[in-house]
Amino acid sequence: MIVVRSRGGGELRVEGYRVRAFERIDLPPVDRRLKAIREAGWNTFQLRADDVFLDMLTDSGVNAMSTSQLAAMMSAQDAYAGSRTFYEFAEAVEEILGFRYVVPVHQGRAAEHLIARVFVREGSIVPMNYHFTTTKAHIDLAGGRVVEIPVREALDIKSRYPFKGDIDVARLEEILRRERDRVAFVRIEAIANLLGGQPVSMKNIREVRELCDRYSVPLVLDGSMVDWNAYFIKEREPGYGSKRLGDILKEFVSYSDIFYMSARKAPAVRGGFIATNSREVYERLVVHVPVYEGFPTYGGMSTKEMAAMAVGLREMVDENLAGSELELIKYVVEELDKRGIPVVLPPGGLGVHIEASSFLPHVPRSAYPAGSLAAALYIASGVRSMERGAMSMDRDRDGREVYPELELVRIAFPRRTYLKSHADYVIDRVLWLYEHRDVVKGAEVGIRTARPKVLPGKARGYRGLGRKTG
Ligand code: F0G
Repeated sequence: MIVVRSRGGGELRVEGYRVRAFERIDLPPVDRRLKAIREAGWNTFQLRADDVFLDMLTDSGVNAMSTSQLAAMMSAQDAYAGSRTFYEFAEAVEEILGFRYVVPVHQGRAAEHLIARVFVREGSIVPMNYHFTTTKAHIDLAGGRVVEIPVREALDIKSRYPFKGDIDVARLEEILRRERDRVAFVRIEAIANLLGGQPVSMKNIREVRELCDRYSVPLVLDGSMVDWNAYFIKEREPGYGSKRLGDILKEFVSYSDIFYMSARKAPAVRGGFIATNSREVYERLVVHVPVYEGFPTYGGMSTKEMAAMAVGLREMVDENLAGSELELIKYVVEELDKRGIPVVLPPGGLGVHIEASSFLPHVPRSAYPAGSLAAALYIASGVRSMERGAMSMDRDRDGREVYPELELVRIAFPRRTYLKSHADYVIDRVLWLYEHRDVVKGAEVGIRTARPKVLPGKARGYRGLGRKTG
């Protein structure tokens, strides 16, 4: 964003880019939305994108790319081995993140697979601020167990603690003191996704680093959204307000031994990678690449993606480009909070997160409030959001439901994709749904098939929601 002083003395934040390509979208009429979500088993993941008006399921792989990225894709050098494009990508990793060795993989979860395969054993534990679904799955599959130790404030959606992604260092120290030999590594997710897109402070990662040094365990950083984390440090952490985003980002990642990212997020491409300054770690990881990903100079990506990633990594720290979606998220969160909607505070990265059990107090957790709310929001608006609660959480080994602390619906804001009028539309539709929340009845889901009894019959409540013209 370009930050200027406004006429009234306040601050104006203005996008430092303009739009040169656009994609037409359409608002399907409410009857079609009802039919589509019914056919999708009331599951927004199963909707066809053509039936969606604002696709706010995720930011993954759907951020707008820059003219420079598209241009770079045209001149990528295709080669199975030793492509110049790979070396240019590796140079960008070193320049922006400060790591000498890079292991390319096809996306973020592939990085998690390789890291778990190399470091996690039967009985291992992995302390972390919070799990992400794919991370936990790979640690479980390798025989390990995730131990979540976020700060106390993290699970209180009303707390405006500025760094809810922080690790509780006292609890980490206790784990390391008692069970150091079982700890495969400590993991920090910078922008803790399932806590509602919350950042990690520089102070916290520094303290975690010191503990990892003291007990000789590696620190793994999931930096899939590290660009947003740097933006929040600049905004919220004392001493960083006048530092450059690039310097903040580099300092932050420098505390990790192993860095990985889903490049489908911050650098706005498809793909991913692991990076480190340890030759030994690099060698232990890279031997698995030819088996699971591809040759180690492409790792399952096309060279076009690597070319665009090199540009995307540099654009992550471009002050003109950074943060416009965060400003939109902030706007929507504050407007909804003012009107009593239970949203995760303070405004974070990724999207607007609604706490569905409070939004739908009449729907018990066993009837999946977040899944029901996501379906209802689609019917009411054509906006596709994502369930981030019990429905997307693995059941335990005996097939019993596991209820995560937070039962969230996430309305994602991909980078540089939606405009302020879209944000206003989201606000309006969420408020409408809140006023009519009694129409949402909750879902019933079997182990293998979705058998919901969400809304039919109650659909009357949604009449009149189609657009006025056409
Ligand atoms: N780590 C984090 C923090 C993520 O948010 C994701 C993906 C991954 C790892 C896995 O990366 O999808 O490239 O394999 N998050 C997406 C989301 C899917 O919608 O939040 P991937």
